[in-house]
Amino acid sequence: MTTSLSPLLTLLFFSLAQGLNPKCDKPDRGSTLQVLHVHSPCSPFRPSTPLSWEESVLQMESKDQWRLQYLSSLVAKKSVVPIASGRSILQSPTYIVRAKIGTPAQTMLMAVDTSNDAAWIPCTGCVGCSSTVFDSTSSTTFITLGCDAAQCKQVPNPTCGGSVCNFNMTYGGSTIAAKLSQDTMTLATDAIPGYAFGCIQTATGSSVPPQGLLGLGRGPMSLLSQTQSLYMSTFSYCLPSYKALNFSGSLRLGPVGQPKTIKYTQLLSSPRRPSLYYVNMIGIMVGSRVVNIPPSALAFNSATGAGTIFDSGTVYTRLVQPAYIALRDAFRARLGNATITSLGGFDTCYTVSVKVPTITFMFTGMNVTLPLDNFLIHSSSGSTTCLAMAAAPDNVNSVLNVIANWQQQNHRVLYDVPNSRLGVARERCS
Ligand SMILES: *[C@@H]1O[C@H](CO)[C@@H](O)[C@H](O)[C@H]1NC(C)=O
Ligand SMILES: *[C@@H]1O[C@H](CO)[C@@H](O)[C@H](O)[C@H]1NC(C)=O
Ligand SMILES: *[C@@H]1O[C@H](CO)[C@@H](O)[C@H](O)[C@H]1NC(C)=O
Ligand SMILES: *[C@@H]1O[C@H](CO)[C@@H](O)[C@H](O)[C@H]1NC(C)=O
Repeated sequence: MTTSLSPLLTLLFFSLAQGLNPKCDKPDRGSTLQVLHVHSPCSPFRPSTPLSWEESVLQMESKDQWRLQYLSSLVAKKSVVPIASGRSILQSPTYIVRAKIGTPAQTMLMAVDTSNDAAWIPCTGCVGCSSTVFDSTSSTTFITLGCDAAQCKQVPNPTCGGSVCNFNMTYGGSTIAAKLSQDTMTLATDAIPGYAFGCIQTATGSSVPPQGLLGLGRGPMSLLSQTQSLYMSTFSYCLPSYKALNFSGSLRLGPVGQPKTIKYTQLLSSPRRPSLYYVNMIGIMVGSRVVNIPPSALAFNSATGAGTIFDSGTVYTRLVQPAYIALRDAFRARLGNATITSLGGFDTCYTVSVKVPTITFMFTGMNVTLPLDNFLIHSSSGSTTCLAMAAAPDNVNSVLNVIANWQQQNHRVLYDVPNSRLGVARERCS
């Protein structure tokens, strides 16, 4: 008995020990990349001094303000450069993957962003970037693209400097100047020769992910467009939980190995902003009751870009005011006479222990009932709990509901562009 049990126990102990002490240099296999939270012990971007619960919640929430302004500027088709709030903002993206660029390969920890098309990487000589940059001069496969390259028509605000295609753009509170370049990008074991990206020359502000950004949008310059034959515009991810930072998730590229049984909803697109992944959210339930939300707050409009998107870069789900207020009121009504307090941008916090109702997002053909950890934030020290969603900034251009990464953690989210569908299934990422 003991002899047969002990290997099992050893295995169990071994897996637990692995969870407790993450192995940070795990090689990526096949077409699957490890996804790390920026606060993971394996992330160079984790805070040097641990933040209190309130600090980290508030930081993530204030970072989201920039994100939301950025997303609504995409829909409005004009750049919004937000006024700096003066508050310290978490400088990193939320989830990162290891990408290798150049020959020989240089590893960069790039932010995963489903609402951006292009990839940008800080390059040698960059003014305003962090110390880890891609040394293009030591890559034998690196080239810059000229103004006559087809890709030069796909970047924002291109200008010709000599024979080089330069472009500028704003991202959150930052502006970036980059030169359009090409090099081999290696993701897990897949080499992608001639990958076009922006080599960042100048960055201002603090919103630029320190080691670059990997755009998983579906517009012209995106990874999906540049790897049509390899990945067939299909990918999925499982984002690891904020509560288990020692665990990692995964980003699986291409149709191979994707879940066979998963609930789907239709993927929609708006010519107003072709990179965003729109879905049709038709309602929200608190417990078994459908919340009374005016249909206009959820309606998809391909011409204006209004509707609901899935986004990997926003932390907390934002709903347009009338939708959020209806949801929040229905949720509060189920908390009995608990005293409601606020914390930063969260307006529904409480300190009593009550039985909370479930929250279900209803999409065409798919209901997603969230586990408690996907819609509540619990203080690790005190007894405060907050509803982890908020109203979108009250901005006429921003009629956008964003299903954000807190709500997606420990789920597999499958983006199946060729079949115009998005799948969601619960999964323990680790
Ligand atoms: C995570 O791993 C680190 C070592 O890398 C360890 O010190 C820490 O206790 C672990 N945390 C948890 C919650 O397992
Ligand atoms: C782009 O940014 C660079 C560096 O900040 C600046 O010199 C240049 O004038 C900008 N170009 C445009 C078109 O905004
Ligand atoms: C809630 O209010 C009712 C009536 O006002 C009161 O009887 C009850 O004790 C309160 N419950 C709590 C948990 O405070
Ligand atoms: C979602 O839930 C509602 C209410 O229970 C139900 O009427 C509807 O059929 C469900 N939709 C799907 C696609 O299961």
